[in-house]
Amino acid sequence: MKNFSKRLIGWYQKNKRDLPWRGLHDPYPVWLSEIILQQTRVDQGMSYYFKFLELFPTVHHLASASEDQVLKAWQGLGYYSRARNLHATARMVVKNYNGKFPETFAELLKLKGIGPYTAAAIASFCHNEKTPVIDGNVMRVLARLHGMHEPVDSPAGIKKMKLLAVDNLDSKEPGIYNQAIMEFGAMHCTPYQPKCSSCPFAVDCVALRSDTVNVLPIKGKKTQVKDVWFYYFFITLGPNVYMKRRNAEGIWKGLHDFPCTESD
Ligand code: ADE
Repeated sequence: MKNFSKRLIGWYQKNKRDLPWRGLHDPYPVWLSEIILQQTRVDQGMSYYFKFLELFPTVHHLASASEDQVLKAWQGLGYYSRARNLHATARMVVKNYNGKFPETFAELLKLKGIGPYTAAAIASFCHNEKTPVIDGNVMRVLARLHGMHEPVDSPAGIKKMKLLAVDNLDSKEPGIYNQAIMEFGAMHCTPYQPKCSSCPFAVDCVALRSDTVNVLPIKGKKTQVKDVWFYYFFITLGPNVYMKRRNAEGIWKGLHDFPCTESD
């Protein structure tokens, strides 16, 4: 598609939300925002972003905190392994990298909790490395524009998506382009009721032309949902309530709750 990246960046400059981590080149707040925004909406994550920067203004502050302090600050956000990995990575950056985040995609990938998406985000936003971010928003935009029908979670689909992502990346401004395509997916080319009638790429969009906007991107695997049943005991003694800490391995390790039993 002709001039896609330039046109997309143009759209972004006019339409982007004013978010506090936008335009920063310091990897610490960028990393923090990206970890918080995994599986969390911007409006939910924003207050945690500010709280973390206030409690732990630098990676050194975060590394010196206890895991309990970090979990406490994370309380309410869910997916607590993110907080544990955040803390472990802060310690690793201080210990192994002298408090300075590695700069390249390949080095960033070695850190706990940093996968290809987050590594690409940090490397491109902070250091303008030519590496594409691929998240749900990006996959939706590219799958629709290019009419990609391979399931995006299949080996063939993953390979094709990477090629599309690399092909479309802006070679001069990869960092801004990456933020632009994510923003375009989040705000304009949305999962439901995308704004096709005012889309700057409407004439180029294969999905719009072939009336497949609502079926793309295709996902092969359905998320398995399992019901679990917990019976909680609320035990009081005078003004006190009995609580305990979960010590067994699992997603809630280290967190506090009421005594409970799990049943079928
Ligand atoms: N979601 C994940 N990363 C984001 C970012 N940098 N800006 C807005 N939304 C996001």
